[in-house]
Amino acid sequence: MADIYTSKKDEEIISRVLKKGLDIESSGNKWKILRIALAKSLQIDTEPDDSLDKVSGEGKKEYNLQQVTGKGKDNDLKTQDWDTACRAMLSIYHTQDLFSDEVSYRKFLQRHIRRGLREIDISWKSESDFHAWLTHEFFSNLQSVPAVVTEYQDQLVAACSEIGIHAEMRTEATGPRLTRYKMYLPDINELDRLKRGGLEKLANLLGVQQQGIVQEETNEPKTIYLDIPRPRDSWTHTSGKELRQWVETFLPDTYKLPTWIGTDVVGQPYFFDLSDAPHLFVAGTTGSGKSICLHAIIISLLQRMTKTPQKIQFALIDPKEVEFSVYDSLSNLFMNKVFGDNDAEIIKLLRTLTDEMNRRNDWFKNIGATNIDEAIRKGKDIPRIVVVIEELADLFMRSKDIQDGIIRLAQKARSSGIHLVLATQRPDSQIFSGLLRSNIPSRIALSVQKYTESKIILDDVGAEKLLGHGDMLIKLSSESAPKRVHGVFVHRDDSIQAVKHFMNSQKK
Ligand SMILES: Nc1ncnc2c1ncn2[C@@H]1O[C@H](COP(=O)(O)OP(=O)(O)O)[C@@H](O)[C@H]1O
Ligand SMILES: [Mg+2]
Repeated sequence: MADIYTSKKDEEIISRVLKKGLDIESSGNKWKILRIALAKSLQIDTEPDDSLDKVSGEGKKEYNLQQVTGKGKDNDLKTQDWDTACRAMLSIYHTQDLFSDEVSYRKFLQRHIRRGLREIDISWKSESDFHAWLTHEFFSNLQSVPAVVTEYQDQLVAACSEIGIHAEMRTEATGPRLTRYKMYLPDINELDRLKRGGLEKLANLLGVQQQGIVQEETNEPKTIYLDIPRPRDSWTHTSGKELRQWVETFLPDTYKLPTWIGTDVVGQPYFFDLSDAPHLFVAGTTGSGKSICLHAIIISLLQRMTKTPQKIQFALIDPKEVEFSVYDSLSNLFMNKVFGDNDAEIIKLLRTLTDEMNRRNDWFKNIGATNIDEAIRKGKDIPRIVVVIEELADLFMRSKDIQDGIIRLAQKARSSGIHLVLATQRPDSQIFSGLLRSNIPSRIALSVQKYTESKIILDDVGAEKLLGHGDMLIKLSSESAPKRVHGVFVHRDDSIQAVKHFMNSQKK
């Protein structure tokens, strides 16, 4: 009996890393990759899912503990027996004594290794240097944060004075990615100089990265915040597990569609009611964190439904069919499936949603209600429907019917409790056109290349200065100023857990 199994796909990942990453031909070194995968998975604080237990079909491979943890090996440093260490780590991770439970130990080991392989596959691209990737993933967090705080404060004051701004340091707060300095300017007229080119000069003088420094208002006179990005090695992330805990802890009962996105710049949880939005536009370049942001929205709503009886349905459209497949077993999917790249089906979905919208509006009229809230108060039990579209530009390019259908919903669906969340990597005026703009006042901008793109998304500049990796500006209505938020870093297992948790709660 082998101890651990891998699938054909897992084996492909292993051999890609061996050949392209480590330049090793011999398969005798596979254990190295398995151990890296184990370490990678242990970085995620959501437990790996039990769907990783089953390995069937062709190309399946098996390993024994000796190969994976070195169990029973001699004292040669490279191959020695790390089994006790692995067992101890997993026991702590799973809060379970795995020294006395052999079956669970092997099971967990397999889950972690297979999840780790999947994570490597997602985050390491063959063309980039594998050793650099390894260093970044495993060692960068260990480097220390620039510690000599007061020295930096002095430097900042000195740099201000160098560009002709007299500033006094007040307080400092360390956020997840930025340090926020509160500064007092005796001559507030000097703020103009700071705004017109001064921030870039400061960034240069302090040697911070190109995106540089952002200035924010405070509510005290003559006082400003300067938000200065720290090196990426010192960032902290909010995990999907924390997101789920927030939903338990901070859930405001009055929110109809509570949506957790991340933290503000000083690390406070940031959430809003999507039903107030009432539609949301999410845009940013490829790799800026849009999909992860959509998952965070879906997970918060799923988690909410496990706590309160309120009904929410999802209509999910994922033209590339990569992101939303984790949700296809949900029992609350509108038309019972996740929609992929089939145009005819998407058109049918949009028609059905429009029919539903019209039907609801007729009902409301009959009972003397003007919107879903009034209808619910009058005793109608109707679910809100959240429509999430993963790549709007793709759909718009493909079919005029689809485009018209989405615009029609954006114009009229809000009062009937149908809310759109539209994501795109192409923030241009063709995609986010007049009709959509005027009907979707709530926007999330992730990082973009150019300030003109930021203007299209937010009617405001700023997104071109974001740091990527789920750093975003959120504007919830046309009047409010954009708010900086660092997104929750959710993984696939967070979606899997949220689905499971939701499905179990529905059985009760
Ligand atoms: N909130 C976040 N925190 C940390 N890293 C993130 C976050 N969001 C995204 N990333 C990083 O950026 C990568 C791309 O994210 P993704 O959501 O797939 O981008 P997009 O959908 O915009 O192309 C992720 O694999 C992850 O490494
Ligand atoms: Mg994406």
